[in-house]
Amino acid sequence: MITFKNVGKKYPNGLEVLKNIDFHIEKGELIALIGPSGCGKTTTMRMINRLIEPSSGSILIEGEDIASQDPVELRRNIGYVIQQIGLLPHMTIGENISLVPRLKGWTKEKYEDKIDDLLNMVGLDPATFRERYPGELSGGQQQRVGVIRAMAADPPIILMDEPFSALDPISREQLQEELVKLQESIQKTIVFVTHDMDEALKIADRIAIMKDGHIVQFDTPERLLRHPANDFVRGFIGEQRLEGMQNDQPVAADLMIEKVVTARPTRGLAEALKMMRSYKVDSLFVTDTRGQLLGIATLNNVEVYFKDEDKTLRDIMNTEFQSVDVYAPFTEVAEIFAKDGAGFIPVLKTGELAGLITRTTMMRGLAGLTTSVVPEGGVRSE
Ligand SMILES: Nc1ncnc2c1ncn2[C@@H]1O[C@H](COP(=O)(O)OP(=O)(O)O)[C@@H](O)[C@H]1O
Ligand SMILES: [Mg+2]
Repeated sequence: MITFKNVGKKYPNGLEVLKNIDFHIEKGELIALIGPSGCGKTTTMRMINRLIEPSSGSILIEGEDIASQDPVELRRNIGYVIQQIGLLPHMTIGENISLVPRLKGWTKEKYEDKIDDLLNMVGLDPATFRERYPGELSGGQQQRVGVIRAMAADPPIILMDEPFSALDPISREQLQEELVKLQESIQKTIVFVTHDMDEALKIADRIAIMKDGHIVQFDTPERLLRHPANDFVRGFIGEQRLEGMQNDQPVAADLMIEKVVTARPTRGLAEALKMMRSYKVDSLFVTDTRGQLLGIATLNNVEVYFKDEDKTLRDIMNTEFQSVDVYAPFTEVAEIFAKDGAGFIPVLKTGELAGLITRTTMMRGLAGLTTSVVPEGGVRSE
């Protein structure tokens, strides 16, 4: 259905962002493109609907080179869903969904039936939602509309670029499940960009793992788990998840509390002190807008530098800290506590702060009590 033949992309600044991309996607397959930020996922995807042109190589859809097709016509046959949903605010949900079908000249009867079908498919009652405006829907509901809008004109191909990553974890999981169900009935060819391995494993028929502009491994979830091509893939899947297939020892995620007090690096020290007091904690976890852990600010440091009114958490946070991955085995966690004398260890999932292990939560976790304890680290703040 979609074939990349030796596709490369070089920007005028000399940056070669894609090298020798070669793959074939069958009709009806759901493919996930995954890899670290900046590895070329979006670029690869946007070449399929010609929002970006390759510098070398060719892309075929049903055997035909898309370079010789009219881009506007091409895009009408390719649905596109992105993270910033982009529903038109002054149109009702029904009007938003039927936009492309109307452009294609469908009869009113045909597109109205289609709107109802699609809304039903994602659990939004047409009678309630058709006439509403996007601003009246929750983020999760809007994203559902974004997904079905891309399907409204029955395009054979749908491109989805991190469509669920702005959603809270619960809506996100629901939408992943809905997508899997939807795909069982519609059987479109779907290319789905994500940076979340759990998401890819859950939804994809095959996964392409990318790094620095090339594809490292393109395989089924089962084969990736059993036969990772190299250390990069192994690391990306999570070393411990692989080990977990052989034995069931507890991992960091089983031992951590999830509610951690976080703050942005631009917070002033007076604010920081106030937060620490009100949450009764002696450290703040400094994260960027994407949840990446930048450093740890201790009460001691805040107090030492408190007199300097220009300082923010960025200036005084500790950036040298031990952390573990969510899939780290408990033995690794225990070793850090033993060696380091640390009071706690932050737990990261692809760099994002996922939780915190203290000596106490670890002991409780190992005793199998994690589900019954009340989190002690305060609450997530911002
Ligand atoms: N117009 C551009 N000019 C130069 N470099 C670009 C341009 N667009 C993207 N890039 C670079 O191409 C690389 C791949 O980007 P992208 O495909 O968006 O990555 P991903 O979606 O995997 O995060 C990045 O290093 C990015 O900075
Ligand atoms: Mg991207």
